[in-house]
Amino acid sequence: MSTINKVAIVTGSAGGLGKAIALRLAHNGFSVMIHDINKDALTKTLQEFKDKGYDSDAFVGDVSKKSDQEKLVQTTVEKFGRLDVFVNNAGIEAVTPFIDIEEDELKKCFDINVFGTVFGTQAAAKQFIKQHSKGKIINACSIAGQESYTMLGTYSATKHAVWSLNMFQALYKIPGQQY
Ligand SMILES: NC(=O)c1ccc[n+]([C@@H]2O[C@H](COP(=O)([O-])OP(=O)(O)OC[C@H]3O[C@@H](n4cnc5c(N)ncnc54)[C@H](O)[C@@H]3O)[C@@H](O)[C@H]2O)c1
Repeated sequence: MSTINKVAIVTGSAGGLGKAIALRLAHNGFSVMIHDINKDALTKTLQEFKDKGYDSDAFVGDVSKKSDQEKLVQTTVEKFGRLDVFVNNAGIEAVTPFIDIEEDELKKCFDINVFGTVFGTQAAAKQFIKQHSKGKIINACSIAGQESYTMLGTYSATKHAVWSLNMFQALYKIPGQQY
């Protein structure tokens, strides 16, 4: 198995799109830290990566908790030595119609989709600064981040926030860093 000495983290990668992204990165030679809140699914997925001979490990965490995101980056760097790519993939849909959605569901969706993206980005960016490297941060947005849909009103609002963070990240210059 060839490696390219680059390291990636993909949040919410026990299944779905996150797993597919992580598999592609590993296939392309990245060392990959997969991550999810679902420990059982993550354990099974890690075994698949190991069976394919990919340089990989797994971290159980909740993207909406800032301390989990910091620990995720710290553990990855301890295991693989550095960080080059951080994919803010974990996300959930709120499907309850706007008029009926309750505080718990609304809060959970914003906590995971928006706060999770902010906390993941902060943790990764701090590591890039420490390494004096540029690094890449990739956010899972959605067409719902650019248009609004009747059934997805509140989910759309979270993904519009993610879209705004994409724009911010593209423009942001770390004070004192040479570009
Ligand atoms: N599937 C689509 O058609 C689609 C379209 C547009 C955007 N997206 C976005 O792409 C991303 C992935 O979507 P998907 O369809 O693969 O979702 P999915 O539900 O299949 O997978 C999401 C993964 O994230 C994990 N997760 C959920 N909450 C978490 C948390 N708090 N911390 C850590 N992990 C958590 C889940 O356990 C799951 O493994 C999401 O951000 C979603 O909004 C998906």
